[in-house]
Amino acid sequence: MTDTGSSKGAPKDDVAELARRRGYLGQAFEIYGAAAGFYDYGPLGAGLKRRVENKWRDFYMREGFYEIETTSVVPRSVFEASGHLESFTDPTVLCTRCKNFFRVAEDLDVGKKCPDCGGMLEAAGEINLMFQTRIGVPKAGSEESTKSEAYLRPETAQGIFLNFQRLLRFNRDKLPFGIIQIGKAYRNEISPRQSLIRLREFTLAEVEVFVAPRDKNSHPEFDAVADRVLQLLPASSNTNYEEKSVGEAVRSGIMANEYLGYHIAKVDEFLEGLGIPHAKLRFRQHHRDEMAHYATDCWDAEFLSDRYGWMEIVGVADRGDYDLKAHASSSNTDMSVRTEQGKIIPHVIEPSYGMDRIFYALLESAYYKEQVGKENRQVLKLKSELAPIKAAVFPLLNRAELKEKAREVFQNLRDASIFVEYDGSGSIGRRYRRQDEIGTPYCITIDYETLEDDAVTIRERDTMKQVRVPIAEVEKVLA
Ligand code: ATP
Ligand code: GLY
Repeated sequence: MTDTGSSKGAPKDDVAELARRRGYLGQAFEIYGAAAGFYDYGPLGAGLKRRVENKWRDFYMREGFYEIETTSVVPRSVFEASGHLESFTDPTVLCTRCKNFFRVAEDLDVGKKCPDCGGMLEAAGEINLMFQTRIGVPKAGSEESTKSEAYLRPETAQGIFLNFQRLLRFNRDKLPFGIIQIGKAYRNEISPRQSLIRLREFTLAEVEVFVAPRDKNSHPEFDAVADRVLQLLPASSNTNYEEKSVGEAVRSGIMANEYLGYHIAKVDEFLEGLGIPHAKLRFRQHHRDEMAHYATDCWDAEFLSDRYGWMEIVGVADRGDYDLKAHASSSNTDMSVRTEQGKIIPHVIEPSYGMDRIFYALLESAYYKEQVGKENRQVLKLKSELAPIKAAVFPLLNRAELKEKAREVFQNLRDASIFVEYDGSGSIGRRYRRQDEIGTPYCITIDYETLEDDAVTIRERDTMKQVRVPIAEVEKVLA
């Protein structure tokens, strides 16, 4: 697990403030006193998040991968087999004075003082991060109560592994194939203090690619990504990072195989496609001692945040045959596949996207502040396809005839399934400012001329340039 950096001394969090003020995000259960590590997405936040998720679905659908949906509540036996009961833990320390626990890697190093009260800290061992629950009401007696023990999934991946035989059949018993899933994951993080970066309930978007071990080094589409240049930080390097093409990285053995290299390149392509600047992305290879218990190799896509420093947003792991073997042996199920080379257990390449961290990275990358005259203009320069509101429609003045025309333009766009907002109050400057702040790419103004020439003014968010467009062409211009 990575150190996401201390928030001390970080620049004032304008982005978070804007996100809260404008309905992107809010603390969960706030009216009852918020609990750390839980956030709710407001109307705009949910809109942006859904667009990112749909773009992700489309991206992997183009790879030919199918999406499934599995449960969040999972019986104990699954995590016994997967190794999570024993190994899904974080090292912690305990304050001898205030008795609070802290996660070692992130919040402080052993030996330092308690960040809450300044007390002495002592090692407190490994603490499991899974939320425990129960399925049904157990019968009296210890054996039944163990059987009803369950956990909320800390990753969606296990649901895919448990479906492996059905998925293989669906794929006509052929390898390779890929399966995707988007869903909530739950981790009872020890002492989360970094808003969306460390949540106790968050959204994972995971890809599991099943491939025969001997085919890992020949991805049929590898050439299409081989020239993509990435910033790499291999485990063997102690410099900052090096620029290398994916092709070079695989050829020189820095990346273990073409499948891993291909999927790392795809992660990079997806993140860049969202509008995250390429210069703020790098791939960092895990050292042996930080790798998850199931991984044989792992690379984190990291985003350079102004607020938090380099932070992991996607993990790409080569899980080998660890999971399928573990479930085959614990459940007595055959998880092997017949191939021309005989029966084999497939290997798994897994890109695992943390959607909330990507959401944060997107907001931070899109946030822009400038002085225009006496005013501070704040803008979210989100890509038009991701912006929760595509355009706002304004009557220039609060007059019945303008309002009526504006309503008509607004309704026609809504009927064409373009998500537009109507705003008829306040000065035009204030209305522009609000739309800039929430990232609306276009503002459409109806004025007295409109009543004569059936044309409107469209203002573009980033350049603030205005063009006159006939009403009949507005839909086409927005598209
Ligand atoms: P970290 O080292 O920061 O604890 P991790 O190595 O535990 O992260 P993974 O287990 O690789 O993370 O999870 C895959 C992805 O899920 C991460 O890249 C991250 O984007 C996201 N993620 C993990 N834990 C959290 C969390 N507590 N809150 C929000 N997102 C998370
Ligand atoms: N499924 C990958 C992870 O949870 O890290």
